[in-house]
Amino acid sequence: MKQLNVLILAVAALFMAQANADLDAQAAKIQERIKPVGEVCVGADCGGVTVAAGEPRTGEEVFNTACTACHTAGILGAPKKGDKAAWDDRLAKGMDATLANALNGLNAMPPKGNCATCSDDEILNAIKFMSGR
Ligand code: HEC
Repeated sequence: MKQLNVLILAVAALFMAQANADLDAQAAKIQERIKPVGEVCVGADCGGVTVAAGEPRTGEEVFNTACTACHTAGILGAPKKGDKAAWDDRLAKGMDATLANALNGLNAMPPKGNCATCSDDEILNAIKFMSGR
């Protein structure tokens, strides 16, 4: 009789182990089915121009990524970084109007300086950095 009990226990334990394994397998399948389709890549790992996850980038960061191509050498008449007189002229109409031109583009100046991932604040930071304001 005792032996029978042990046998029953052993069979029951085997059953439960099997049931658990089935559950685990099912859970894994469900996880696979409901996982997000696309994964958003944020930060330096994505390569290319990075998207800041939280804080806006500094003017210097934006400048070095997006604006330096034209605004360091003054390509196509772009006001050069640190050229106070040139920036005084630009900013005479006010920072808001100057920012609007940078966002919308102005002649050879592309909208947002081609920085599609830049927020308005980040463009503003870059203008302040270039003009020394
Ligand atoms: C492809 C070259 C190019 C790039 C890249 C570029 N700019 Fe410019 N930018 C120009 C040129 C050219 C002008 C002068 C446009 C004019 O007055 O005809 C200009 C002018 C400006 C002005 C003055 C607008 C005004 O109201 O007078 C601001 C501000 C400015 N750029 C900001 C930026 C910022 C910020 C970036 C980077 C995010 C940037 N630019 C990237 C070419 C560029």
